[in-house]
Amino acid sequence: MKYILANWKMHLTVAQALLLLNRLDQKIKENENVEIILFPPISALFTLKKQLETLRNPKKFKFGVQNIYFKDEGAYTGEISAPMVKDMTAYVIVGHSERRIYFGETDNVVAKKLQAAFRHSITPVLCVGENAIDHTEGHAKKIIIDQLTEDLMLLTSSEVAKLIIAYEPIWAIGTGNFADPEEVVKMIAKIREVCGDLYGKDGGKVKVLYGGSVEPDNAKAYLKLKGCDGLLVGGASLNYQMFASIVDSAALNSLI
Ligand code: 13P
Repeated sequence: MKYILANWKMHLTVAQALLLLNRLDQKIKENENVEIILFPPISALFTLKKQLETLRNPKKFKFGVQNIYFKDEGAYTGEISAPMVKDMTAYVIVGHSERRIYFGETDNVVAKKLQAAFRHSITPVLCVGENAIDHTEGHAKKIIIDQLTEDLMLLTSSEVAKLIIAYEPIWAIGTGNFADPEEVVKMIAKIREVCGDLYGKDGGKVKVLYGGSVEPDNAKAYLKLKGCDGLLVGGASLNYQMFASIVDSAALNSLI
């Protein structure tokens, strides 16, 4: 099974999101070995969910949200909690570097959000990754170990076993400067090793994806990597032809 995730970030009006869903539905063939999860902006989620129910195969796409707050309710203006979205979504992105950088999310906050997601039976997609300086100076592995140690702190080993982790080096996001698959395969192995060290056999079961300037031309190289369970796609997921082509590559590599 391969996981192909589309992070639409803060793009698309409701009408544009509907159009994209319909185009994806027309272009993408059904494949039971590929799990396609769309992360639209929250403003479009309800409408998309209704539209999904009218499609020939409503199971073709799953939905996720791009963020939740870690409390269930309260006076937190502008925030949305796991219980508010759990009927519409099965997944949530937690700890994306854009949230860490622009919204000051610390590893401590990330840990609480992961816990909140599991509390409401939503599967989190945890993003980890080093910045350009740490990459150049050779500290990538240490950054990942530190992030995982703190981010997973509040989870049980059986929760970690259900987790999806996306390795998204910050310098590769939205830059076209995608990571070398040879480096990615090592980082994926490291992530699984660290989870195994921290949480035993269950930790080793974690699913690991790559994200960062994924496009149809480079997707195949990642999907072939040992231990790579799929891709988290940003920019290219807004183009239905590019995204469909990435899904096609995943279908070809789904038995690896
Ligand atoms: P890009 O594919 O645009 O580099 O974005 C990656 C990403 O941040 C997905 O979460």
